[in-house]
Amino acid sequence: MKRKIVLGMLTYILGAGTMYAQPQQPVRESKNEQPSSFRSNALWYDTNGEPMNVHGGGMLYQEGTWYWFGEKRGRSRSEGVNVYSSKDLYNWKYEGIALAQVTDTTSDIAQGCLMERPKVIYNKKTRQYVMWVHLELRGQGYAAARAAVAVSPTPVGPYQFLKSFRPNGNMSRDMNLFVDDDGAAYHIYSSDENMDLRMARLSDDYLSPTTQDSLLFRRQREAPALFKKDGLYYLITSGCTGWAPNQASLHTASSLFGPWQLIGDPMTGPGANKTFGGQSTYVLPVPGKQHAFIYMGDRWNPQNLKDSRYQWLPIQFKEGQVVIEWMDNWDLTWFDKIK
Ligand code: GAL
Repeated sequence: MKRKIVLGMLTYILGAGTMYAQPQQPVRESKNEQPSSFRSNALWYDTNGEPMNVHGGGMLYQEGTWYWFGEKRGRSRSEGVNVYSSKDLYNWKYEGIALAQVTDTTSDIAQGCLMERPKVIYNKKTRQYVMWVHLELRGQGYAAARAAVAVSPTPVGPYQFLKSFRPNGNMSRDMNLFVDDDGAAYHIYSSDENMDLRMARLSDDYLSPTTQDSLLFRRQREAPALFKKDGLYYLITSGCTGWAPNQASLHTASSLFGPWQLIGDPMTGPGANKTFGGQSTYVLPVPGKQHAFIYMGDRWNPQNLKDSRYQWLPIQFKEGQVVIEWMDNWDLTWFDKIK
């Protein structure tokens, strides 16, 4: 018990502001418990009883199944891209490593490289699943600032690495993908040492950026998460303070290439000004429910990255304003109750 308290204090002192919004609910009592709600910051186990390792993630929905892709982490190492599947968003089956690092040290994805913020989209024309991931080359820290592309005929992979590059020559770090209603896909990425947030329309096969690539704004933002509601685009981003939490902001636009208008911090309540100790990674539209979007964030633990926790919160639309409020424990019926 004593050891736990000391460890807890140490984590707080060294860690990324972990005192924000601690769950009142304890972490899951039993590995075998079948969850039926979202408990942000708690330990989330997969259906084998193993802690989930899927950070900086994103979601793909295909025929009744969600696939959650994210960074597989060691204490600090990047160990490729993990994928889990679920039919209900609460219970996750581990499907394995979707994109592995390789032993060939001349490869762009050689062991020791960094793979961050992977996202997967499905291309209806080529019937391929296409993964984009922020890639840093082995031994170069964050200097390479590239995007990597990999493909698979199945959602869970294994994905085949195709190439890595700087989109149109631009540095590319934190990133996301967005598919619009017309099937056109976009890569949103932090560029120019993270000063710029840029967007590039992808080629029809989703494998490359086109030259339709422009600056959204220059405000030193990262961790972009984009969604669309009633014809309006919403973009949540974080500031740039590494693993430490900072204040989120929301921009909106009626056209993807802008102009993007700064709305302000969508988070509200205790811990809001530091994004409840976390950082955005994705916004998940819930299929079959109108105006139902889940904010997905990471509460990073820089002392042990694989133990970083997940923060899932419902996005609320209150009098035309986007509001994200901390909730210890909630489930999908929340969306039905607010109607
Ligand atoms: C954050 C970024 C993370 C990771 C981290 C490394 O700013 O959002 O994905 O790159 O920096 O310090």
